[in-house]
Amino acid sequence: MILVTGGAGYIGSHTVLELLNDNYKVLVLDNLSNASVESLQRVEQISGRKLTFVQGDIRDEAGLHELFSAYPIEAVIHFAGLKAVGESVEKPTEYYDVNVNGSLCLVRAMQKAGVSKLVFSSSATVYGEEAPAPYKESMPRGTTTNPYGTSKAMVEQILTDIHAASKNTANPLDVTLLRYFNPIGAHESGLIGEDPQGIPNNLMPYISQVAVGRLPELSVFGDDYETSDGSGVRDYIHVVDLAKGHLAALNKMFSNKEAECAIYNLGSGKGTSVFELVHAFEHENGVKIPYKVAPRRAGDLATCYAAVDKAAKELNWRTEKTIKDMVRDTWRWQSNNPNGYKK
Ligand code: NAD
Ligand code: UD1
Repeated sequence: MILVTGGAGYIGSHTVLELLNDNYKVLVLDNLSNASVESLQRVEQISGRKLTFVQGDIRDEAGLHELFSAYPIEAVIHFAGLKAVGESVEKPTEYYDVNVNGSLCLVRAMQKAGVSKLVFSSSATVYGEEAPAPYKESMPRGTTTNPYGTSKAMVEQILTDIHAASKNTANPLDVTLLRYFNPIGAHESGLIGEDPQGIPNNLMPYISQVAVGRLPELSVFGDDYETSDGSGVRDYIHVVDLAKGHLAALNKMFSNKEAECAIYNLGSGKGTSVFELVHAFEHENGVKIPYKVAPRRAGDLATCYAAVDKAAKELNWRTEKTIKDMVRDTWRWQSNNPNGYKK
């Protein structure tokens, strides 16, 4: 059985679906602070399989101990956390508590229960601004510019240290740090997708909420970057490809002879600009996205994309879906569910 923390959320729900499709038994732990159980009911509907859901907090160590005693957990995929960059600047205490302290509680409970395999949701943000794209896993982590990014870098370091310290013990921690680039899109059924609370911070949900009429127009943050058309370039990855990357990581861990602390980028390796994404959305879906050019957003880089050879070689995984798939699947989800999971 695989424990998926934060499994009711955007990336978690898509990963739970792929795990069920691959015949894994799944236990989801989520406190529903940024999700609804509706996503999991739909995952069961799509897969035709049942999962186990426990509502709880990763910081509740007693609750975690109970969970590890009650279920035959072989590995953990750890998505649970807070992820809004701007909010993390306002509420650093909460972000470090959930993301860093929560991860420590989880690892302690795993070690106590003798569970050694852990996949952690990290982010391309840990590369910082120093190095030029493409970002390679061999590059050192850079300077993070907000508590969210710092919390991801801290957990990477903590897990690296715990792996090193436990290496020669009876229960070494086997860790995979997955650095996501920009996950977008939705499952092709249109039944599960991204459902941000309030006004979205990220580009794709903003575009789709403009398309559905919830927001009047998009602000393009800067058209004077040194990129092909002046707008920011990012490595967008379809959330279903991303979910499959977790299965590839898990399968590799199950075949590892020795515990490792491995790092993989999960990205497409291709850069797409803001204007290119907007135009692809308009063209593929036949809808107009009104936009205006606004000043640059603080902390944004011109260009960010992944080096993808390591994941291809060692995980035998690469992205399969295109930008067209991403904008089409986003729109199917958003137009079928204009208010997300709320009826
Ligand atoms: P999400 O908010 O949809 O999912 C996170 C889930 O964790 C939610 O269901 C939430 O209810 C749950 N949760 C939050 N705090 C919890 C706690 N204390 N105990 C138990 N559950 C808790 O976010 P997502 O986009 O699916 O992201 C999943 C993970 O991937 C996060 O760790 C995020 O930082 C990381 N990540 C996301 C992106 C992205 O662009 N979406 C990029 C890089 C990394
Ligand atoms: C952002 C976070 C990053 C986090 C990631 C996933 C910042 C600075 N970075 O990445 O730490 O890991 O989300 O949650 O917040 N854009 C617009 N208009 C919008 C929104 C975005 O033009 O309304 C542009 C941005 O300037 C950028 C691109 O679209 O060029 C993508 O932005 P976004 O989706 O927020 O992702 P990142 O900035 O890459």
